[in-house]
Amino acid sequence: MSTVREIFETMEYGPAPEAPDLALGWLKRHQNRFHPFIGGRFKDALNAQTFASINPRNGQPIATITQCGKAELDAAVAAAAVAFPKWSALSGHVRARYLYAIARQMQKHSRLFAVLETLDNGKPIRESRDIDIPLVVRHFYHHAGWAQLLADEFPGYEPIGVCGQIIPWNFPLLMLAWKIAPALAAGNTVVLKPAEFTSLTALLFAEVLQQIHLPAGVVNIITGDGSTGELLVKHPGIQKLAFTGSTEVGRIIRQATAGTGKKLSLELGGKSAFIVFDDADLDSVVEGVVDAIWFNQGEVCCAGSRLLVQEGIAQRLEQKLRARMETLRVGDPLDKAIDIGAIVAPVQLQRIEKLVEQGKSEGATCWQPSWAVPQEGYFYPPTLFTNVEPASQIAQIEIFGPVLVSMTFRTPSEAIELANNTVYGLAASVWTENVNLALDVAPKLKAGVVWVNSTNVFDAASGFGGYRESGFGREGGKEGMYEYLVPSWERNDGWSDDAKSENAESAVSGGELIPGPSADSGLDSSEPGIDRSPKLYIGGKQVRPDSGYSFAVKDGSGNYCGEVGLGNRKDIRNAVEAAHKAASWSRATAHLRAQILYYLAENLATRAGEFADRLAVSPGHSREQAEREVTKSIERLFYYAAWADKYDGQVHPVPFRNVTLAMPEPWGALGIVCPAENPLLSFISLVAPAFALGNRLVVVPSWRYPLVITDFYQVLDTSDVPGGVINLVTGDPNELGRVLAQHDDVAALWCVGAKALSENIERDSSGNLKSTWVSFGKTRDWFDDRQAQGREYLRRATQIKNIWVPYGE
Ligand code: NAI
Repeated sequence: MSTVREIFETMEYGPAPEAPDLALGWLKRHQNRFHPFIGGRFKDALNAQTFASINPRNGQPIATITQCGKAELDAAVAAAAVAFPKWSALSGHVRARYLYAIARQMQKHSRLFAVLETLDNGKPIRESRDIDIPLVVRHFYHHAGWAQLLADEFPGYEPIGVCGQIIPWNFPLLMLAWKIAPALAAGNTVVLKPAEFTSLTALLFAEVLQQIHLPAGVVNIITGDGSTGELLVKHPGIQKLAFTGSTEVGRIIRQATAGTGKKLSLELGGKSAFIVFDDADLDSVVEGVVDAIWFNQGEVCCAGSRLLVQEGIAQRLEQKLRARMETLRVGDPLDKAIDIGAIVAPVQLQRIEKLVEQGKSEGATCWQPSWAVPQEGYFYPPTLFTNVEPASQIAQIEIFGPVLVSMTFRTPSEAIELANNTVYGLAASVWTENVNLALDVAPKLKAGVVWVNSTNVFDAASGFGGYRESGFGREGGKEGMYEYLVPSWERNDGWSDDAKSENAESAVSGGELIPGPSADSGLDSSEPGIDRSPKLYIGGKQVRPDSGYSFAVKDGSGNYCGEVGLGNRKDIRNAVEAAHKAASWSRATAHLRAQILYYLAENLATRAGEFADRLAVSPGHSREQAEREVTKSIERLFYYAAWADKYDGQVHPVPFRNVTLAMPEPWGALGIVCPAENPLLSFISLVAPAFALGNRLVVVPSWRYPLVITDFYQVLDTSDVPGGVINLVTGDPNELGRVLAQHDDVAALWCVGAKALSENIERDSSGNLKSTWVSFGKTRDWFDDRQAQGREYLRRATQIKNIWVPYGE
């Protein structure tokens, strides 16, 4: 006779199906045919072209949906543009009421949303019911709060206008919420395109908007595939684009929007590390891995798809994992007792199969449980690869399926190196019982989210988004709100055409030999003066330009007043290398950074007369203006010295046993292209905030009058600025700016320069998807504190990493 324990352990699961009737009824009421939602109404197809939405559980079509084209796009963007002035002018409180109403209404119909999501996407009902929809509701509640607090918490910022939003199929409704809630809270209007595999919950959401009487045109839903997305990206009526999807398409969007002035946020792919140290609680780790890579069939941008295990425990963990994988259940997504549902579409299933075959051919060991997945529908078993080479394709490419690759390491520094050995930087998780180790490793990981002894937890109060080729911008929390706002000064300056932008005329050319006035040697005038020819400043040293050329600098009357080195591509490369070598600056204490800024101010003040003399002969400067510029520069150094140890992070109040630390981290190597005007003050205004927060800089100073900056080398030398932290390459901004944009080791780039240069920088930056901040030929009043200094500069000098640390009861 069997014991109770034996019976319990061998007992089969019975089916526990969720009834799909109400969701199927909803589809039927629409005759399974869906139109885009434009101006508050479902518009009968202007375009008769359609596509089918498939239930991945069985491959059967469940709906026919309009493939939107230009006519629908134009109508939707027009509706959003008409709605914008009124919507943005509503009080925060009124917008909060609408967002609150959306949250309430969705909560009331949460099961309908959950079942429909599962039918359309194939994800387990357990997850759509317990994770996706509750997070959606929470997101709208949270952002009702931001609408209410907008005026208090974001003074000096305004909504942007019409936002185009493109979302993927892995978390259809959740990604919709992440996009729409902050956009509306900030006062924008929206045209959103769901992914073609999963449009249905977005259309049900549109009905909720009708029910709560959201003003027509505030949200428009356009259905269609990538070609519809492309139309949205290129539409001239859009002021902001937010995209979540593949890095490949993110890159296309970066290029397509270059120079258009559209604000952009990109949340792209990942290959996130799941790091297990040998003191970790292995049973928790095993459940963590289940959540990391088998949650949502592994179709998760931040899936912990690379398991990095400390050597001594690797075998034991693999054994435990295999045992656990054997008990996972793949099957009907509507069955409440299954763990892994269906893959969204045949194309995705084939992609997974192909990459797994590739992994085998690369020599890695593939392991799958003994049981078979259902034959009908698109299913794939949980898969573990061991003996994986860190450089192999399966260790580098985002598989976006239930496939885990496992590698080993010996020391914490090796773990960090392996974890960062990817072009991505979305997330990571760290498993250890040693709090010191966890908190030592977290800041060294190049990822936007780090979970300590946890994984794949999300909340509306915490920002989410990547480093490196995982994109830029954050969604959620206060940091996410900035993606839907613009500083008033940045908007109100208006666009200037290139004719007005001084960098547009940069006539920097080397090789001209101009006889200069003889330098004053202080001796008998028959003696030749001692030439003071400024070079470039790289790695804390003055170096000759690689080109071997110099260019002439003219004074205010157009006369020759000196020559400086003409920097080129090679000099920029050397400067970036020097910036990388100075990595320890990013770990220097805030107190030290402040001290050095004060020291710079002090040394500039000591030589204020000399700098004023220099500036007084520069174009557009009287002696009095020159003195004002020096004085203001000293004040601005003080300003950022003050900020250096006060620009701190936050602890987000997420509803878990966690503190979520939102840490502003420096980018690393940051490029700065300065404008022609106010050569000292514009330089200080851009360099000081970036320096204050720990970046290492490669700066192209004013081409028109770099002599005041080449004089500044000596101030840098005498103020304890470590070598390589501020590197200066004089030359043509239009050439050097592009080299910086193309450089893969530059993480972010600021440019106050010509419109054409701004456009080139945005396009060229698509290589490593660096974050750019360009001025499109707009000028700035460098004496005006509202536009030439402040939090926006500090915010732009950092990216937020959210570290989730277990805490409390
Ligand atoms: P995708 O990036 O092509 O699709 C995402 C969204 O972009 C969809 O709404 C799609 O219609 C739209 N889109 C496609 N091409 C576009 C274009 N040229 N312009 C504007 N919008 C466009 O992703 P896809 O093809 O569905 O999946 C391919 C791979 O991408 C996956 O295997 C996965 O590795 C990755 N992916 C990553 C996601 C993430 O959240 N990080 C989400 C979805 C896919």
